Amino acid sequence: FDTEAIAPALLAWYDANARRLPWRSLPGEERQDPYKVWLSEVMLQQTTVAAVGPYFAKFTERWPTVADLAAADDADVMAAWAGLGYYARARNLLACARAVAAMGGAFPDTEAALRELPGLGDYTAAAVAAIAFGRRAVVVDANVERVVARLFAIDEPLPAGKAAIRFAAGQVTPDERAGDFAQGMMDLGATICTARSPRCMLCPLREVCRGYAEGSPERLPVKAAK
Ligand code: ADE
Repeated sequence: FDTEAIAPALLAWYDANARRLPWRSLPGEERQDPYKVWLSEVMLQQTTVAAVGPYFAKFTERWPTVADLAAADDADVMAAWAGLGYYARARNLLACARAVAAMGGAFPDTEAALRELPGLGDYTAAAVAAIAFGRRAVVVDANVERVVARLFAIDEPLPAGKAAIRFAAGQVTPDERAGDFAQGMMDLGATICTARSPRCMLCPLREVCRGYAEGSPERLPVKAAK
């Protein structure tokens, strides 16, 4: 299996098939606004793309910049967040906006510095570094985890298998266009390499996928019995 072929094939597929989401620029386009990338990624934790759409529109209309959000009343932000759930995320959102405003209003542009901000975990720091700043960062959410477990036929049960999956994800992440690569992996996981019935016949990575070659990719990733 040619691991080097994975990123080019995935990026070519993304160029033609990227979902047009409101917080995205077009594939390969100039970097997008870090504030919007951060806001969308925080909203997308535990909430679907479809549900986030109207909230993202409402927030960016009312608070177009991170400085605007930092200056908002807590109660207004909590009210605008109502329905998205997980209110700790909204409180962290405000704390993060205020931290960035206190730093002069510009988001830090490295994964390590982003990771220091309130509410930014490994996933969000990597996603913002890659998508907003073009940094090579390894972005692993549940979709990416599933795609990578299948590509490499990693059958060590989760959560223990997460380390092997992250390592493999790092091996296929390209130096260039890491943000498009991450979003392409997410889109592939959401639309083709789905949990129950992956549509392998439509997959741009079928020929380099060990899970497909071995048969029954849908059994991956294996989850540890509870
Ligand atoms: N889920 C979380 N972040 C995403 C993104 N940037 N694109 C697609 N799906 C996502």
